[in-house]
Amino acid sequence: MKTEMELRIGAFASHGGSNLQAILDACGNRLPKVSVALVISNNSDSFALERARKAGVPAFHVSLRQYQDQEQMDEAILGLLQSHGVNFITLCGYMKKMGNRIIDAYSGRIINIHPALLPAYGGKGMFGMHVHEAVLRAGETRTGATVHLVNREYDQGPVLLQEVIRIRKGETPESLRDRVLQVEHRLYVKTLEKISSGEIRLP
Ligand code: GRF
Repeated sequence: MKTEMELRIGAFASHGGSNLQAILDACGNRLPKVSVALVISNNSDSFALERARKAGVPAFHVSLRQYQDQEQMDEAILGLLQSHGVNFITLCGYMKKMGNRIIDAYSGRIINIHPALLPAYGGKGMFGMHVHEAVLRAGETRTGATVHLVNREYDQGPVLLQEVIRIRKGETPESLRDRVLQVEHRLYVKTLEKISSGEIRLP
């Protein structure tokens, strides 16, 4: 039996936030049961914060520099998530490791998107252009994007959905980044659609 789930998302982003934008655009339309309750960035210049404000979503800059240690910062983040009624977390290009307290508090309710076909090209150092450069260097014929659950092990949570694309002749890391990013946008929305409709069952 499918169990529908209302998602109140806390989104974390560090840079441009184009995945966040794809989610914001789909909320209330393709994603009738999904809303973004707040956006948090470790980077005060992140365009994601601006995207959130434009969409009328509370946006917060939270950085370790504002706190004594990771524990205090995690406490503050948890406070924000709880006071905004967040029941689900999406990482949208968040360059910091999520604190274990937050991972435990939202266990099975945190997802991330990765610009490759995990478990290949994941783990430490595999972010941004490094991923696409490594894929091309290895002579792969296919790559793609992965949405996975986040657990304490970096990039190792169970895969929820993947989409594959073929690598073209003459492909550069930049062209690959752009093509994979397009895939990411629709894959992230599709995953949220399947989770909120109960088609993907979370643990
Ligand atoms: C994406 O490639 C995502 O897979 C990775 O970081 C990038 C974020 O892009 N985790 P954007 O900020 O959503 O445009």
